[in-house]
Amino acid sequence: MNAPERPAASLEPHVMQTYGRLPFALSHGRGCSVWDTEGRQYLDGLGGIAVNTLGHAHPKLVPALQDQIGKLIHSSNYYHVPLQEELAAKLCDLSGLSKVFFCSTGLEANEAAIKIARKFGHDKGIERPEIVVYEKAFHGRSIATLSATGNAKIQAGFGPLVEGFVRVPLNDVPALEAVARTHPSVTAVFLEVIQGEGGINPATVDYLRAVRRLCDAQGWLLMLDEVQCGMGRTGKWFAHQWAGIQPDVMPLAKGLGSGVPVGAVVCGPRAADVLGPGNHGTTFGGNPLAMRAGVETIRIMEEERLLENVATVGAALKAGLERELADVAGVVEIRGQGLMLGIELDRPCGEILGRAADAGLLLSITAERVIRLVPPLILSRDEAARIVAILCPLIQTFLAQPEP
Ligand SMILES: Cc1ncc(COP(=O)(O)O)c(C=O)c1O
Repeated sequence: MNAPERPAASLEPHVMQTYGRLPFALSHGRGCSVWDTEGRQYLDGLGGIAVNTLGHAHPKLVPALQDQIGKLIHSSNYYHVPLQEELAAKLCDLSGLSKVFFCSTGLEANEAAIKIARKFGHDKGIERPEIVVYEKAFHGRSIATLSATGNAKIQAGFGPLVEGFVRVPLNDVPALEAVARTHPSVTAVFLEVIQGEGGINPATVDYLRAVRRLCDAQGWLLMLDEVQCGMGRTGKWFAHQWAGIQPDVMPLAKGLGSGVPVGAVVCGPRAADVLGPGNHGTTFGGNPLAMRAGVETIRIMEEERLLENVATVGAALKAGLERELADVAGVVEIRGQGLMLGIELDRPCGEILGRAADAGLLLSITAERVIRLVPPLILSRDEAARIVAILCPLIQTFLAQPEP
């Protein structure tokens, strides 16, 4: 698994440089392994940032998508799309919610949620509806979703931001109760069940239940952004299900199409009919290829009992990291659930990204100090053990070096 030396970063003069990229390109994958164009192999601890639910080139997904491509990739929302109804019904069945709007990405799903919250307010006669959002939240990079995001770096340079958001700290019930007393125009509370980009910060079960109660008491919509933590990633279909609650609005994307872009906003009865004809739409949303990817992803997840796999392999991965990093000075906390784990260090650790790739492991660093693991949900126990074996010595070496 040792990666030989890489060539210098290839320049991409015609591609806008909006990402800090590692200097290699992936060419193909199988299961939880990927290979770069130079033939080096990597264990995929990133899953395309929580996207490749079924890993790479899954033997059941590939022929299903080939079949769909051969029939119809895109039609139009001018016509009925039977696969939309099939995927929507499945998502409603799994979540207990009632209706779905389809789009293509996470930020689009969140834009739709924001529009629902505002229209919900207008329909009640609230002229300037407000939405409660969170410190360290991440909801996307459109102007509205970056305004809802709780990260000044992501917002810098893009003002004026969209108004109508009230920000509170996570897991702080009194702060939310104070908003209820002081902001009569609030119509919704919008949070990630586990903050992903913000550093793998879970909302506690008690907090989620308290927010649900407060939303009911206030007539607010509870909107749970499960773009990253949903679709089985924590070992239940949706992360909020660990708290035994239901949201009114649930944006999904990332893992839903196992790599094919699919976004969805799943709504319960209070929100399902807020948007009507002409209120919202998108050209690509719900196209037959995307819908088939969603339908097949869920079918294969059920067939292969991937929720159970996530729970057992995720627990083994976390236990392995906890065991190997137990007495390592500089490791602040290991957090998360299922196959959404974060290791917080006491210092910025961006360097670990390249070192891990050199050692044959893909992962990401988020919130500067948190090593994030969001591998495919098919990860095996052996692969989890390999992640531990590659990553923990790297962390120890990194922390042992003097701070710059
Ligand atoms: C919780 C959450 N919401 C929204 C988004 C935005 O999704 P997309 O990048 O598909 O627009 C992300 C992406 O990381 C996310 O983690």
